[in-house]
Amino acid sequence: MPLSDDNDVITAAQLPPLHRSDFEPSGPPRPVELPDGTRAWRVSRYHDVRKVLTDPRFGRAQLHVPDTVPLTGQSGLVASADLMFNQDGEDHLRLRRTLRRAFTPRTVARWRPWIASIVEQRLDALAVGTAPVDLVAGYTLPLPVDVISRLMGLDVAARERLRHWTEYAFSDGSHPEEDMAPALAEFAAFGAALLAERRKDPGDDLTSMLVGAADDEGGIPEGQLVDLVCGLVVGGHDSTMTMLGNALLYLLGERRECWPRIGADEEAAGAVAERLLHLVPLGDDRGTARHAAVDTEVGGVTIPAGSMVLADCGAANRDPEVFAPRPFDDLFAPLAAPTLSFGAGPHYCLGAWLARLELQLSLHRIAARLPGLRLAHPVDAVEWREGTTSRSPERIPVAW
Ligand code: HEM
Repeated sequence: MPLSDDNDVITAAQLPPLHRSDFEPSGPPRPVELPDGTRAWRVSRYHDVRKVLTDPRFGRAQLHVPDTVPLTGQSGLVASADLMFNQDGEDHLRLRRTLRRAFTPRTVARWRPWIASIVEQRLDALAVGTAPVDLVAGYTLPLPVDVISRLMGLDVAARERLRHWTEYAFSDGSHPEEDMAPALAEFAAFGAALLAERRKDPGDDLTSMLVGAADDEGGIPEGQLVDLVCGLVVGGHDSTMTMLGNALLYLLGERRECWPRIGADEEAAGAVAERLLHLVPLGDDRGTARHAAVDTEVGGVTIPAGSMVLADCGAANRDPEVFAPRPFDDLFAPLAAPTLSFGAGPHYCLGAWLARLELQLSLHRIAARLPGLRLAHPVDAVEWREGTTSRSPERIPVAW
C-alpha cells in the first residue's frame, strides 16, 4: 500500500515528535525559576549530572517531606513518599535488596527465550492483520504488558486495568482530584491484594520473590511494598511502551534506510536501541529532582543546602565535552560514554537490562519479519497520548 498523505484520520498535533525535542545546551549549574515560580538549580553537564545522581548528599526523600522544598508538577504514585524512588539511604537499600537477584543482566538474559517468544506471538498476530494496522494496539503496548504481567504474575483482570491505573499513577497533573484519589486507592488495593495472595500462595513470579525477601528482611512497611509492586507494574511497561513507540515512529518515518540492517543483525538492533534510548526522551519534563542536604560543590559551583536540583539527563546526554555532535547521524555507532537515560547512582533504573532486551528484540524481530513495513501516515500527523508525564503516539498506523 502506498504511503498516504491523507491527514483526515489523524489530526496534526502541535507537539513535535520526541526525537525532535529541544534541549537547552549544557552549561555550569545555575539557578532557575520554574513556570510555577519554584526555584531550583539546573545541572546539565554530563559529569555534573552524574555527580548529583550518585552523591548521597543529594536525596529524594526530603522532596516529599511537608514544609521543605515543594516538588511541584508531580502527582500520582510518583509523588508518594512510600515509593522506593522517593526513599534514600538505608530505607532505599532495604527495598532494593528485595529485588536484588531479579533484574541483573544475568537473570534478564535467562528471560530472553520467553520474551522472544512473546515478541514472535505478537508479530504472528500482527502479520495476519489487514493493513493498515495500528502498531500501538498490536505491538508497542501489548508486548511490554505481556512481559511485565508474566514477570509479576498478573491475571487478566489486572492486565485490563493496567492502562487505567497507569494514567493516574503517572498523571501529568491534568486529572481532576476527585478522579485521582479513587483511581489510586483502587490501584493500591490491587497491589495489597496481590501481595497478600502471593504471601499465602507463592508462585515463581517476581511478586512472590519480593514478598518472600521482604518478609525475611522484616520491618518493611507494607505501604512501601504496595507502592513497590504498583511501581513495577506501571513503570515496568509504560516506559518501554513509550520508548518503543517513539523509536518506531522515528525509524519508520525518518530513518527507513536503517530498517534492513536492524532486521538482519540483532546486535545492530541493540546498538540502535541504545542510541535511541540515549537520544529520545520519554516525555517533555526536563530534569529529575533531588534535594541538597548540605552546601555541595558541583562543577565548580556551590549549590546551597536546602535547594531543589534538577539534573537534566537529556541535556547531559548531548554534552559536547563527552559526546560527538550530530548524534543521530550514525544510529549503529556505540556511545562514547554510558547513557544517563536510565539515571545513575542508587536509583539507577532497576529495569534497564530488561528494557534494553525488550527493545532490542522487538526492533530486530519486527524489522526481520516485516521488511516492507512503513508508516501509513506522515510523522507530523501523529496524535499524542495525553495525560501522563510520558508521551508517545496514540496510534501508529502502518502498512507493508
Ligand atoms: C525504556 C525504558 C525505561 C527507561 C528509559 C527508564 C528510565 C528510568 C530512569 C531515568 C530512572 C531513574 C530516575 C532518577 O534517578 O531520577 C528509573 C528508575 C526506575 N525504573 Fe526505569 N526505565 C525504563 C524501564 C523500566 C522497567 C522495564 C522497569 C521495571 C521492570 C523499571 C523500573 C524502575 C524502577 C523500579 C526505578 C526506581 C529505582 C530506584 O528508585 O531505586 N524501569 N527508570
